[in-house]
Amino acid sequence: MALPTTPQPAPVPVGPNLSMFDPAFAGIDEYGTPVYIPLAYRRLLIAGEPDAGKSSLVNLAAAHASLAADARTVLFDGKLVELGPWEDSADEFVGADMDHALVTLRRLQTVMNNRYAWLLAHGRRKFTRADRVKAICSIFDEIALYATVLGTREQQTEFITLFRDLVARGRAAAMPVIAATQRPSIDIIPKSLRDLFGYRAAFRCTSSGSSDIILGDGWSHAGFCATTIRPTLPGVCYLIAEGGVPRLIKVAYLTDADIATLAEFAAWARAGDRTHPHTGPTVVAA
Ligand SMILES: Nc1ncnc2c1ncn2[C@@H]1O[C@H](COP(=O)(O)OP(=O)(O)OP(=O)(O)O)[C@@H](O)[C@H]1O
Ligand SMILES: [Mg+2]
Repeated sequence: MALPTTPQPAPVPVGPNLSMFDPAFAGIDEYGTPVYIPLAYRRLLIAGEPDAGKSSLVNLAAAHASLAADARTVLFDGKLVELGPWEDSADEFVGADMDHALVTLRRLQTVMNNRYAWLLAHGRRKFTRADRVKAICSIFDEIALYATVLGTREQQTEFITLFRDLVARGRAAAMPVIAATQRPSIDIIPKSLRDLFGYRAAFRCTSSGSSDIILGDGWSHAGFCATTIRPTLPGVCYLIAEGGVPRLIKVAYLTDADIATLAEFAAWARAGDRTHPHTGPTVVAA
């Protein structure tokens, strides 16, 4: 005889327990040691030749920011497909549209100004985890598209000015920036801009000059040159932190299926916290 079945409540997925102030996992170094990047107060620059693995690090950072309970994301991706999966948990997603990029950057600048005014009024220098203010993490996959390709020359100049301001002042306002480019050249990343990025990842480059543009002058002479990374090893890069020595690391890889699962969960977790409602995942993990 079949036992009567008791209706079971739907499984409740665990809530996100990650903070933007927690260091984000990036991969392992040559000795197998885990490598973490503290994103909240740092800016991360990612550069290297096409197919070197930049977007895998961009996606790891996007996953951390999207899953962090105390962060919001603003995504810029002209190709749409790199950051597209995270769109449903993002406050704003900008594609290959210069007008949209500029409006969004101006809004970010206004928010940043307001945050600094609040800090001043409260006699503070920066936001901390205890403030429970949401970090606003801006992620750009391919800065060169907005800085040199889309729009008019005036718009590109305005983009660079706004971008530089966000990178320069975002830190204390809990507005970290993560930016990737396949063009590590001085016109895209002048030294004055590069030096604002506390963490820089040099994926395989075609010249030692390009490698130095990312890591800093003289590192290729000292034996840290991203041209030596084999093309058959995507996801390997030299990562340098403020004041440190470059470390050769292998970035952890999220497959498309991993990204889809994480992004769906992030969208579900933020469903009640966004301006655009999201319907939630079709399958709820047990
Ligand atoms: N960490 C990694 N581990 C293993 N394979 C990787 C890793 N990162 C990237 N790859 C492989 O390299 C391919 C290209 O990676 P990715 O799209 O991240 O490159 P990219 O530098 O962003 O290229 P593009 O400049 O064209 O955007 C991926 O499709 C994947 O197969
Ligand atoms: Mg890419």
